Amino acid sequence: MTIHIGAKSGEIAETVLLPGDPYRAKWAAETFLSDVKLVNEVRGMLGYTGTWNGQRVTIQGSGMGMPSLSIYVNELIRDYGARTLIRIGSCGGMQDKVAVRDVILAMTATTLSTPSRGIFKEVNFAPCADWSLLKAAADAAQAKGTTTHVGGIYSSDVFYDERPDLNEQMVRHGILGVEMEAAELYNLAARHGCRALAVLTVSDHLLTGEALPSDQRERSFGEMVEIALEAAFS
Ligand code: HPA
Repeated sequence: MTIHIGAKSGEIAETVLLPGDPYRAKWAAETFLSDVKLVNEVRGMLGYTGTWNGQRVTIQGSGMGMPSLSIYVNELIRDYGARTLIRIGSCGGMQDKVAVRDVILAMTATTLSTPSRGIFKEVNFAPCADWSLLKAAADAAQAKGTTTHVGGIYSSDVFYDERPDLNEQMVRHGILGVEMEAAELYNLAARHGCRALAVLTVSDHLLTGEALPSDQRERSFGEMVEIALEAAFS
């Protein structure tokens, strides 16, 4: 047990999928895994371990924002031995070519700041995805026929953004979408020699104002889970 995860030693798999929403962890585990066991419910941040095609997988909620993700990912890596960590979440589209329901594979994650700022100090470290996972996810998405974009995203500290000029700069520099967790996941994976990737479904669009209706979110989310699982074990 750790401060924030109640799982016993050995109850967390080496491969962990990380949705922000704990109820999505529950849905994904019950939908895609066999022999599912609830391994964490501390603070309602549900985590499940099961098998997919005979391989052990944990699906653990990370909460919203980098400080919350940092707590879970630190404990998963340092105390439970997680080695492959894939964020599965939603993002806001930032380019005309990116449509609601498309999938984005985050090659890099730009930020204003991350919880790692304190150790990087003056260094502008470039958080990036693990190449083997990124390539495997792109191949899996292509095989499924999912419209997929691979490139840079923006990991923001705020959902309710008061700086439209910043978003304009992101759009201008080709950033595909905005979310709130991937950059610190990539920082932590780099620090601990782990593999990480963020697979994101475009749930809303900053340029068009379009948003995915709630009844359609589940199907898009399911494709993303399958892409993440196939990438993890390819
Ligand atoms: N901003 C930040 N995070 C998000 C968004 C957004 O527009 N959409 C989904 N996650």
